[in-house]
Amino acid sequence: MSRKKKKSIETDVTASRREFLRSSIAAGGAIVAGSAAAHADSDPAITDLQEWSRYLGDGVDRAPYGVPSEHEKHVVRRYVGWLTASVESSVNFTPLHELDGIITPNGLCFERHHGGVAEVEPDKYRLMINGLVEKPLVFTLDDLKRFPRKNQINFLECAANSGMEWRGAQLNGCQFTHGMVHNVMYTGVPLRYLLEEAGLKTNAKWIMPEGGDASGMNRSVPLFKALDDCLIAFKMNGEALRPEQGYPVRLVVPGWEGNMWVKWIRRIEVGDEPWHAREETSKYTDLMANGKARRFTWEMDCKSVITNPSPEAPLKHDKGATVITGLAWSGRGTIPRVDVTLDGGRNWHAARVDGPSLDKSLHRFYYEFDWNGAPLLLQSRAVDSTGYIQPTKDELRTARGENSIYHNNGIQTWHVKNGGEVENVEVS
Ligand code: MTE
Ligand code: CO
Repeated sequence: MSRKKKKSIETDVTASRREFLRSSIAAGGAIVAGSAAAHADSDPAITDLQEWSRYLGDGVDRAPYGVPSEHEKHVVRRYVGWLTASVESSVNFTPLHELDGIITPNGLCFERHHGGVAEVEPDKYRLMINGLVEKPLVFTLDDLKRFPRKNQINFLECAANSGMEWRGAQLNGCQFTHGMVHNVMYTGVPLRYLLEEAGLKTNAKWIMPEGGDASGMNRSVPLFKALDDCLIAFKMNGEALRPEQGYPVRLVVPGWEGNMWVKWIRRIEVGDEPWHAREETSKYTDLMANGKARRFTWEMDCKSVITNPSPEAPLKHDKGATVITGLAWSGRGTIPRVDVTLDGGRNWHAARVDGPSLDKSLHRFYYEFDWNGAPLLLQSRAVDSTGYIQPTKDELRTARGENSIYHNNGIQTWHVKNGGEVENVEVS
């Protein structure tokens, strides 16, 4: 490259940086001036040659299957010992406060199983369709892969997510209050193709997917949903499902409660009425204040949470440019709008939804502001594409009482204290 050319590029870069600064000031954006100021002559991270620059690094034989940097070892799923009687029928939580964007990495997707992780051998895997069909069928994994495939990014939220918070603030971390959700790109066969191959009888109205794990989990799913957007999925984020997510095949039921997403799926029975299985009678029903239970509450209501700052991710600076970020989702569509408050709901500000806005998928939002260092009461409130507005926890309690552990989509409050420490609280 000629000298002259290089110089003109430098001039362009300077010009565009100046323009950026000017436009971010105009847009009210904060600039990290103080902390980013140069310490070039005194900072050993700049003045000393670092170890990693001095020697050759590991070769391409280092890790045939890549793992995160050793400095990210704390970014893991966690479980709460006292929450369940055994680790086989239990749950661990996605570390939402360590993630960004909308996709959950496969190794960090929360796990919920009722009978442990089934270790299914792919060669012996079978999926049977029987009941009210013209021709009962049994598919191998290879058979499934000969049907046309679809890719879909969908969130899966357990109906019990935030369930511990019904009676007040309990768990001091966004991972534990909201971490029973993940968002994955699934590849699979539309369930409709398989049901059509078997031929539905005219009185078919419901299906009952059943798992091949020790819990043999089953749920009644209405046929209209099965024929709409359900997938028989064998890939997550491009690679084979992880054992804990149902390897080799799971059911994807977009927008509907996680319990219906049967893992290690081995059979689908077609019927003319629901089965009233354990998971839709004694569990996954919402006991109201008057003793009656809401049943078949399939769709996950619109919800959001600020992931940073949050109790496990305090603010580390004392004031100035600050980024608030979080996630919002709805089982009924997309999220056109998220508002954020810094003062417990007195004043709301429009947050910026960034990245893909997909149907029944997590959405990422940001709110950038100039923090004066004073305590904050942070909340986010999402609105979905049907116009539904995420309710407060008190509004939910007024409508449904406090008996349920399921379907708590109330607004979460984080108290940022002097010094940046964050606590799970409620305001009323
Ligand atoms: N499928 C089977 N076969 N067995 C199970 O225990 N748990 C259900 C559902 N599918 C379960 C299952 C519940 S309650 C939830 S929330 C989701 O799987 C969790 O999916 P994940 O482990 O991929 O996060
Ligand atoms: Co669940």
